[in-house]
Amino acid sequence: MENYEPTVVAFCCHFCAYTAADLAGTMRLQYPTNIRIVRIPCTGKVDVRFLLEAFEKGADGVYVAGCLEGDCHFLKGNFRAKKRVALAKRILEDAGIGGERLEMFNMSAAMGPRFAEVAREMTERIRNLGPSPIKRPKSTAHSAERKEQRI
Ligand code: FES
Repeated sequence: MENYEPTVVAFCCHFCAYTAADLAGTMRLQYPTNIRIVRIPCTGKVDVRFLLEAFEKGADGVYVAGCLEGDCHFLKGNFRAKKRVALAKRILEDAGIGGERLEMFNMSAAMGPRFAEVAREMTERIRNLGPSPIKRPKSTAHSAERKEQRI
């Protein structure tokens, strides 16, 4: 598809991935602008419903980025997230959307370069997969109406 730019939603734990994103910015590391970060207090807060809703609302890809295993500030939040991501991947696969559009990553707050690498990796993966099959095309009726108003 020509000029296709995916929308990738990243649910980032406040204590690690979100801080790593901040560090990546401070280090002036380049990563794609396709990433839409949602800051969460812990990946254990992510529900399967949120992951699926992100796709319903137009995401082409989604990932969850949490603390390194054993370093979750709420002890088992990232292990819970890992299980939920695995379940959501199966649901996406069964629904024909594709489980590979969803992923879980672990990183520390000091891993700014890793954050940028994951952002590039996911954007490239989703770009190669193409738009989500459930993504609604932007309303042409509305844009046609706006064009008429300009004339
Ligand atoms: Fe970071 Fe739980 S506090 S994943």
